[in-house]
Amino acid sequence: MPRPKNIISIEQLLFSQGFGTRKRCRVLVIEGLVQINGETVNDSSLTIDVSDESAWPLTFSVNGEAWEYHAKAYLMLNKPAGYECSQKAKSHPSVYTLLPSPLRLRDVQSVGRLDQDTTGLLLFSDDGQFIHQMASPKHHVPKVYEITTSSPISDQQIRRLLDGVVLDDSPTPVRALACERTAPSHLKMTLAQGKYHQVKRMLSAVDNHVAALHRSQIGNLVLPSNLGTGEWRFLTVTELLAASSRQ
Ligand code: URA
Repeated sequence: MPRPKNIISIEQLLFSQGFGTRKRCRVLVIEGLVQINGETVNDSSLTIDVSDESAWPLTFSVNGEAWEYHAKAYLMLNKPAGYECSQKAKSHPSVYTLLPSPLRLRDVQSVGRLDQDTTGLLLFSDDGQFIHQMASPKHHVPKVYEITTSSPISDQQIRRLLDGVVLDDSPTPVRALACERTAPSHLKMTLAQGKYHQVKRMLSAVDNHVAALHRSQIGNLVLPSNLGTGEWRFLTVTELLAASSRQ
């Protein structure tokens, strides 16, 4: 079925992508700072069909910086250690400082949180429904963590993680969906829940300790090896589907 048309002005396009107030967006165009598909536009009321798949990806540039139009933003960040996931971070810089200002102005939010010392795959979006679905405990999107433990991990500890351990906030045991020792002090563990400090608390519950923690996968979406620490990028449509997959 053909997509319904979505025809918007250049001013609306810039506004929707986080380039400031409508007035600011108009001024950007008047000053000749906006190019669409390689052509400078001077009239902010010019319209464009953003639903026209034959023109995708719709690219534009502002002040010489290239952008792709995204009706909703879905992105991944390779989170470095030493960054907090809250907007108003207290003791470390916020992960939001790693995103460019148009995305911050679009009010993208992280999908769940990682501790400041945890590294790896973190998703962001301005699609409230997606965030809710991904973060909802009912949805059970599995997440894979690479864990370096402070002491070598024993077979018995792996068995306990798979059988289930009781944490201090609930009598119901939580268990790993999968747990594989990849080196004497290195575990690859898959969890379906997203409880506060869950990995660290589970390892403490089996009398070990997390020395380093990295999230490498959400659903079927694996953190790409070419996304450097601290770098972000938009998800492709395939990656978006993979991220919400329950495998
Ligand atoms: N579990 C933790 O303990 N910390 C994280 O950052 C993520 C999962």
